[in-house]
Amino acid sequence: MSETYAVNVDDVSKSFGSFKALNGVTLRVRQGEIYGLLGPNGAGKTTLIRAICGLVEANDGSVTVLGQRMPNVAVLRHIGYMTQQAALYPGLSVEENVAFFAAINSAEAGVKAALELVHLYDRRKSVVSTLSGGMRQRCSLACALVHRPDLLLLDEPTVGIDPQLRVQFWDYFRQMAADGTTLIVSSHVMDEADRCQRLGLIQYGRLLAEGSPADIRAQGGSPNLEEAFLNLAGRRES
Ligand SMILES: Nc1ncnc2c1ncn2[C@@H]1O[C@H](COP(=O)(O)OP(=O)(O)OP(=O)(O)O)[C@@H](O)[C@H]1O
Ligand SMILES: [Mg+2]
Repeated sequence: MSETYAVNVDDVSKSFGSFKALNGVTLRVRQGEIYGLLGPNGAGKTTLIRAICGLVEANDGSVTVLGQRMPNVAVLRHIGYMTQQAALYPGLSVEENVAFFAAINSAEAGVKAALELVHLYDRRKSVVSTLSGGMRQRCSLACALVHRPDLLLLDEPTVGIDPQLRVQFWDYFRQMAADGTTLIVSSHVMDEADRCQRLGLIQYGRLLAEGSPADIRAQGGSPNLEEAFLNLAGRRES
């Protein structure tokens, strides 16, 4: 039998009015893989992530997650989604926020571990509106992974997070992937991109290049990933 994929995006297009935010995107992500989505502002990364978890319904093409055609509410408990804009309850404490997301998925037992992971256990009683921006980001991550999802969608997860903690996050992402979790991570940070097993470069709603960081360097003709990416992006415009 052919290999099964945790995520299978097949020729997906999505328009908002007359604007095509996704234009025939095809990509496949294996179980346990860390797949990075790169691309300029407005390229369609968030729209693609939303299509993968079923919050956006494709006009054309299909999205299959864990063997199920999306959108599918039953699959949602297997997905963790850290949105680009924090979706927390500002009037509740850190612990209450994480416990809320845990309760939706009957995963109350995971609250302490999730808080410890993001180094917020000591701040668990703090009301979210009183946290720093980076702490809020960390709280969002704890909410996204408290139920130990099979697929973790992270939309720019480390914006505002200090370098030490970013490294720790990535250690943990790798550990999760080694344990079988599939991760899709959007980022503008090249050292993060370099930590992904495969990258997809998105521009104008299309996948314009795909491959390992080494492949992307080769395709873009530069040992510097950022330069390779810019070369690839520039090629399409000319
Ligand atoms: N609900 C919506 N209604 C109308 N247009 C939308 C909607 N959602 C996204 N778009 C448009 O689709 C395009 C892609 O947006 P998207 O948020 O996917 O980009 P992105 O790659 O995530 O960008 P960024 O790096 O800034 O987060 C943008 O032009 C955006 O304005
Ligand atoms: Mg986005």
